[in-house]
Amino acid sequence: MFTQSPLKTNGSHSSHLPFGDQRTAPWYGQDILSVKQFTVADLQYIFEVAHEMREMVARVGTFDLLKGKILANLFYEPSTRTSSSFTAAMERLGGSVIPISEVKYSSVSKGESLPDTVRTLECYADVIVLRHPEKGASAIAAQYARKPIINAGDGVGEHPTQALLDMFTIIEELGNPNTPITAELDGLTVTMLGDLKYGRTVHSLARLLAMFNVKLNYVSPDILRMPEEIIAEIREKGITQTEYTSLDAALPETDVLYVTRVQKERFADLDEYESVRNAFIISPETLQAAKQRMIVMHPLPRVGEITMEVDEDPRAAYFRQMEYGLYVRMALLAMVLGKA
Ligand code: CP
Repeated sequence: MFTQSPLKTNGSHSSHLPFGDQRTAPWYGQDILSVKQFTVADLQYIFEVAHEMREMVARVGTFDLLKGKILANLFYEPSTRTSSSFTAAMERLGGSVIPISEVKYSSVSKGESLPDTVRTLECYADVIVLRHPEKGASAIAAQYARKPIINAGDGVGEHPTQALLDMFTIIEELGNPNTPITAELDGLTVTMLGDLKYGRTVHSLARLLAMFNVKLNYVSPDILRMPEEIIAEIREKGITQTEYTSLDAALPETDVLYVTRVQKERFADLDEYESVRNAFIISPETLQAAKQRMIVMHPLPRVGEITMEVDEDPRAAYFRQMEYGLYVRMALLAMVLGKA
């Protein structure tokens, strides 16, 4: 039987919290495991804090909001953006980081279990950021951990902090300043393209967008369609979803084209991967059929599905998207550690 730490509040603020006024901070001491845990009001709050973080970084670079706090970055799968942006976020807030990005050099290689590894790291850190190849691994880690777990990608499951930064990107790029979040997102058509079966970023983003009055298009090879359980979940919210095997019909109405990589590492059969790896390639010619006011996003890394010539197009938002991730992760760390 798992017992929950007094540090984990799950919405009801504990009387055992060690820091006076921090007990009133939203999300203090809580896990971030899935986008399903957020309300529209939460999103509005996170993005307001992220916006402030952006301004603070521009103004002073680094500041001491989380001085003395330690983050453990535990990555069982490769990462460039998520790992380094959490490190940068913590360091910009004055905290420090225990990096475990090569688990083969940790006691995991001796057979140490995930529960024992998180129990170890929480002795030294205030928050654990976890990426793991198995769906549900972060939820399991959270059952054992007393300190907050942040899901940085659990196999083909979810990538909630990516979805938050993706939504923040859409708002910053296409929204109007000082308007409610619903006004910024309602009415948008978001087209997700590529590997929708294994792509955890699109699983999380589709769920998050379904909280608003958006239209979702899914463009993929037949074997990489959006999973039926996610389509059903979103259908229940009354969202219009349309599936395509070609981008042609969906592109002209698209406000956000969210491109994803076909993930070789998820295929058991490499011939199957080869049959779909180049199914979609976005080039400047492709974008001639797109609106002038729209954006192209990608969680990255890309492996050929957007040509480098597209980078010069102002609608290419994927490098700016990475930077927005820093501010959103700064906001999340400040919230979870009670300083937002
Ligand atoms: N978007 C994303 O998760 O990138 P990394 O795999 O580099 O962290």
